[in-house]
Amino acid sequence: MSAGSGPHHEGPYQLPDRNLGLDLMRATEAAAMAAGRWAGLGEKERGDGAAVDAMRQVLAGVQMQGVVVIGEGEKDEAPMLHNGEHLGDGTGPEMDIAVDPVDGTTLLANGMPNAIAVIAAADRGSMFDPRDVFYMEKLVVGPEAAGRVDVTAPVEETLRVVAEAKGGSVSDVTVGVLDRPRHGRLIDRLRAAGARITLFPDGDVAVAIAVARPDSGIDVLMGVGGTPEGVITACALKAMGGEIQARLYAADDEQRRRALAAGHDLDRVLGHDDLVTSDNTFFVATGITDGNLLPGVRYSGGGARTRSLVMRSRSGTVREVSSDHALDKMLRHVGVTVTDDERQ
Ligand code: FBP
Repeated sequence: MSAGSGPHHEGPYQLPDRNLGLDLMRATEAAAMAAGRWAGLGEKERGDGAAVDAMRQVLAGVQMQGVVVIGEGEKDEAPMLHNGEHLGDGTGPEMDIAVDPVDGTTLLANGMPNAIAVIAAADRGSMFDPRDVFYMEKLVVGPEAAGRVDVTAPVEETLRVVAEAKGGSVSDVTVGVLDRPRHGRLIDRLRAAGARITLFPDGDVAVAIAVARPDSGIDVLMGVGGTPEGVITACALKAMGGEIQARLYAADDEQRRRALAAGHDLDRVLGHDDLVTSDNTFFVATGITDGNLLPGVRYSGGGARTRSLVMRSRSGTVREVSSDHALDKMLRHVGVTVTDDERQ
């Protein structure tokens, strides 16, 4: 038997251990199924709350000693999985956890594409804590342009580098940009340079991940989005390849004052090794509404189908998992309610 091919050798090969991402996927699945009931109902908070509750219930049983480092909600005063909250059954690995039970709460409320339920995890103490800074300027590229871009460079230069990495010209490059007034100048410059643009209304995790996936049709993400979403993106990119560079961003004087008081350096360039220092990261997402990353939840009589992505940086495995769920059994065996009763 050659070294590394069998179970009994003593070499660099390690038998596969438990993949925490697969356990965490059950929590994003539950969150997506609970939130999906609220698609298009115009109830942002209640849809998010349903996802938070379902996610929290499943996470309680996961074998890990997790601490929420990135909780979602503070910016919008939405229901939270609180920073510092302990997650898991108290056994297993000590992990930092970032949760985004619904990335794209407005998308969900309007029944629009690309709302996803997300969890990222990494070794304890390794996630950047963006406390008091809600926004960051982000540049995300896929594996082909990784290591060649610079968030401080003019956007025209970035377009040229990405075009070259793709083996094409700037007019072949599509840039994803959050549709916000703050991006007016960026959009003008991208247009003047000849790039194609996809303006998206919300949900920059899904778009950032799409950038690093083959054939998504989006080559770069640029612009200012949420800081928690940036850290979550870094956990995924460590598994998929690709690169994020970011700088913390203060939208006004009050945000600047808070960021500086918290000790942040607004000029510092944060790469994915700054956003998460560990090379043991997990990223899990389940589609809530249909999107270019994942299809949304499909409900049928007593059942639901979900589609998820599960990534692990240590192995570099990216799984796409389709699951069929019997909702009444879930309630009995997992204790999670994802029926539509909650909406009454
Ligand atoms: P929510 O799910 O919390 O609503 O966040 C959606 C989102 O679009 C993120 O994906 C993005 O990073 C952030 O909001 C942008 O913030 P803002 O809407 O304040 O520009």
